[in-house]
Amino acid sequence: MRRNLSAAVLSGVLAVSALAGCGGGDGDSGTASGDDKITLGFSQVGAESGWRTANTKSIQESAAAAGIDLKFSDAQGKQENQISAIRGFITQGVDVIAFSPVVTSGWDAVLQEAKDADIPVILTDRAVDSQDTSLYKTFIGSDFVEEGKKAGDWLVKEYEGKSEPVNIVELQGTTGSAPANDRQKGFADAIAANTNFKIVKSQTGDFKRADGKTVMETFLQSTPDIDVLYAHNDDMGLGAIEAIEAAGKKPGTDIKIITVDAVKDGMTALADGKINYIVECSPLLGPQLMDLAKKVDAGEEIPNRVLTEETTFTQEQAKTELPNRKY
Ligand code: AHR
Repeated sequence: MRRNLSAAVLSGVLAVSALAGCGGGDGDSGTASGDDKITLGFSQVGAESGWRTANTKSIQESAAAAGIDLKFSDAQGKQENQISAIRGFITQGVDVIAFSPVVTSGWDAVLQEAKDADIPVILTDRAVDSQDTSLYKTFIGSDFVEEGKKAGDWLVKEYEGKSEPVNIVELQGTTGSAPANDRQKGFADAIAANTNFKIVKSQTGDFKRADGKTVMETFLQSTPDIDVLYAHNDDMGLGAIEAIEAAGKKPGTDIKIITVDAVKDGMTALADGKINYIVECSPLLGPQLMDLAKKVDAGEEIPNRVLTEETTFTQEQAKTELPNRKY
């Protein structure tokens, strides 16, 4: 169990943290598991996509490789489940808590409880909108606004020199989540100067393949002239491809498709010409997360933002990359 610090020691630790802008770990590796291993409580969003499955695998495998005792909890897409999982981790006295927030808002109270218990928190993959950034030690993950911008930039280039109307439909990720908010914004900003581009429909598909299909079916019924689909992840794009083919249209040709993630299924569709462009979002956050958890537990200084490196893929690049794709 995490040892109880005296008020004097605790205030000293917090003062150092505030000065260094970093880890509040007490250097105590005595743990909830009762041995010398660090115990990491991790609350995952769920299993909504291929990306999420790869992310879970990366975290579980990296914890085992790093000798970290991982307490893993699947929130099944519900914020209330994540809040109770985090409260459970606090009660158990884990050394470090990490989580990928389902949505951006509503975390202040539970993060304050973790802070009061002197348990450092690491945000992975998704950000929160808490004004008090001392409630967590660092945030590791992608720049989702940049991902949306890359998607929009590709489209602008694709239609360079053409002035005819371009009707775009958008499949958004989970409502209120950081990737949905930011990918929508980055894309809208990138295409804003092209007055012939119009987002004619934009609706959530909750990052799920089945929802992507259903929502695309309704788009196709209500909007006959769709030129482009921008899906906030591969899974929704893949579901939409099924709907497009069922409607007798050719995905990638009759309707250009841009997605985000670059998981194997998405890359296969890209190499097959059914998707036109994919912006990569890496789920392989496990090794860096374990490294940060160890550092934060040891009271070492860590950066308050750790950005994931990512690229983009055209159809030709996907053909080359596909045989090496691990997830
Ligand atoms: O937060 C990352 C996003 O969540 C991925 O792009 C998406 O596939 C997942 O569900």
